[in-house]
Amino acid sequence: MAPEGPRGPLAGVRLELPGEGAAAGPGPGPGPGPGPGAGPGGGRGAGRGAGPGPGAPPPAAPAGRFGGAAGLVLEWRGLAKEVEERGGAGGGAGAGAGPRPRRRILHGVSGRARPGEVLALMGPSGSGKTTLLDCLHPERQGSGFSGSVRVSPGGPMKKWLKRHLAYVRQEDELFKQLTVRETLLFTAQLRLAGSEAEKRAQAEAVTGTLGLSRCQGTQLALCSGGEKKRTSIAIEMLTDPAILLLDEPTSGLDSTMAAALLSTLKAVAREGRTVVSSLHQPSSIVFAKLDAVMLLCNGRTVFQGPPSAAVPYFEGLGFACPAMYNPADFAMDLLVPVGEAGDMSSGAGGAGGGGGGECGDLEHDGASTQRRLIEAFEAGACPTAHFTAEGKGLARSGVVQGCSPAEAGKGGEGAPGGRAAKWNTGWLYQTAVLSRRSFKVAYNDLITPIALFECCLISAIAGGMWWQTPWTESRTDSRAAFVFFTIIFWCFNALFNSLMSFPSERPILERERASGSYRLSAYYLSKTLAESPLRFVYPTIYLSVAFWMAGIRNDFGVWVGWVAVQLLVVFGGESLGFFLGTTFANVRRGIAACTITAICLMLSGGFFLTSSEVPAFLRWIRYLSPFSYGYNAAAALVFNGKGVPCDGSGVLVACGGAAEGEASPAEVLEALGVRHSPAFNAGMLALWCLGMRLWGYCHLRFLPRSPAGPQGGPARR
Ligand SMILES: Nc1ncnc2c1ncn2[C@@H]1O[C@H](COP(=O)(O)OP(=O)(O)OP(=O)(O)O)[C@@H](O)[C@H]1O
Ligand SMILES: [Mg+2]
Repeated sequence: MAPEGPRGPLAGVRLELPGEGAAAGPGPGPGPGPGPGAGPGGGRGAGRGAGPGPGAPPPAAPAGRFGGAAGLVLEWRGLAKEVEERGGAGGGAGAGAGPRPRRRILHGVSGRARPGEVLALMGPSGSGKTTLLDCLHPERQGSGFSGSVRVSPGGPMKKWLKRHLAYVRQEDELFKQLTVRETLLFTAQLRLAGSEAEKRAQAEAVTGTLGLSRCQGTQLALCSGGEKKRTSIAIEMLTDPAILLLDEPTSGLDSTMAAALLSTLKAVAREGRTVVSSLHQPSSIVFAKLDAVMLLCNGRTVFQGPPSAAVPYFEGLGFACPAMYNPADFAMDLLVPVGEAGDMSSGAGGAGGGGGGECGDLEHDGASTQRRLIEAFEAGACPTAHFTAEGKGLARSGVVQGCSPAEAGKGGEGAPGGRAAKWNTGWLYQTAVLSRRSFKVAYNDLITPIALFECCLISAIAGGMWWQTPWTESRTDSRAAFVFFTIIFWCFNALFNSLMSFPSERPILERERASGSYRLSAYYLSKTLAESPLRFVYPTIYLSVAFWMAGIRNDFGVWVGWVAVQLLVVFGGESLGFFLGTTFANVRRGIAACTITAICLMLSGGFFLTSSEVPAFLRWIRYLSPFSYGYNAAAALVFNGKGVPCDGSGVLVACGGAAEGEASPAEVLEALGVRHSPAFNAGMLALWCLGMRLWGYCHLRFLPRSPAGPQGGPARR
């Protein structure tokens, strides 16, 4: 479906894709801005052409945009971040005793990003780009963080900014089962206020803006890396954020796509947004397109200013860039320690040669080069920098307006636009949308031809193995074995599927929760409502085939009862798997915990050992076991109301080895160690499921989240 065309906040913005011909709408090129002094940050005299192009300052941010927040200047001072060293096994003497050693990975970094500009954070791998981006987001700072992040107007970063601040992480956190269109539509429905038509229009506008029209009907699993990345950006663009933080948006893209993406980001910024993005190794075209760059080295700043000022700056310090050399590569080569550069000889020094002898020195003394660059920057040698290091310097250019200390402690009230409603949509609406999304995701995951084939095959094998089991004393145990196998198999199936499905969903849940999209209870209920019916499909097919093939009990009422019990068992297994999945962020640990739990519960299930055979101090486990309730309920259903003829096999004590007469149902059930009625066991099973679900919810809601991402991710769940 063709988008309606850029409209609303995204008017005039469109990605220029190489294969799509000329871009529609005004190009995002650095056209002349409306004039100097634009932007609420004021003081556009950032000095020396720090604007979007030579002498072209970014246009003013339209006031009152972005849901009440005008264009925002983002300013950070003295940002530092310390992390605990997590050594591996044998991490040196004293490992395990006393506090872990801490490492500083960000050393007092200061800077500023303005509306209308794209600021690129550049530096070698491990230089602290992601860490800095995380520190700029109030929910991602984590422990060990110090320094101040302010917006102007508005003051210190507070939670009200959640709605105006978007963070696109390096990894794409998307449901791969959904199409691009579905992904954007569901997100628009959850995040935006307004009518369905408005939400749909905004989703379509963003689709067009980011050049996703061609692939909007494609499942994300089948999309290219660039399309996935653009979808991730589009998701964040839906809310029309005032500040956009992006971590390596161009990674995995070829240079043409990277340049096209950057053009889009610039156009997005020109609308008054503040864009801060980390970039790894930009091409010379991409580098030249940037409005401002901040070069990092080992968590310290070595340059800040417009890209055009970088080469002269380094030249002034004695590091001349060879002719015909990509300035971005040159700058990066200066910052990579020689031992790690690998191909340094093909780098600055090796490539140019004629451009300046200093580059050649890098091959021999990379560490001292870095030291010199860091010291020079800290000494204030960089004329285009906003601040010197450690936050001790004053603004070198421009004054941030409106950072009133009075607003510092107010949080929501001090925010532009005042206190916004906590959620844009109601709980019921959230539940309905999330249920539809969960259903689509689970449907694509669970209802597949291979899974259907697997189920049919297992049903046929089980039915064939127990084929028309005679209703006699000698086959009592094998009939009970069928009951136990069926209960165990489907419970394990649901348990492990559920355990494995949550970890991939966790980052999406956390991102959406951090952006205030919906209530956790709506998510939790919708997941239960949408997934459970799908998980019931295969056990029902299995019982429809294997139960009758095996001739377990030719009674339709028993079959119906068992299906009901089976569904409860599957629900129980799913609840337990979900609980363990939420508990362990690490999949391996989750699987280990799941295996141990499942084995314990299985052994206490009553088939291998009756409860009287289990030592008294371990007997309580059976009361926690869904297998035990499921097995007891199903076995009671099968053997209830029909005596078992004796055949002289001596299997049942009640037959006493005789070949005549029959054992009553009660005697058979006692011999099998089955206790209580089917209704009682089914009731207990239902209670167990309910308890496990509630526990899973509380766990997700109240316990501190496990670390995710390099810095431990958001501080709240
Ligand atoms: N939680 C953590 N514990 C220990 N070290 C960490 C932690 N998070 C980050 N680091 C270290 O901090 C340094 C900076 O990491 P960061 O992810 O910010 O680098 P980067 O510049 O984004 O690198 P890349 O370009 O490879 O993404 C790295 O050396 C990394 O190993
Ligand atoms: Mg990174």
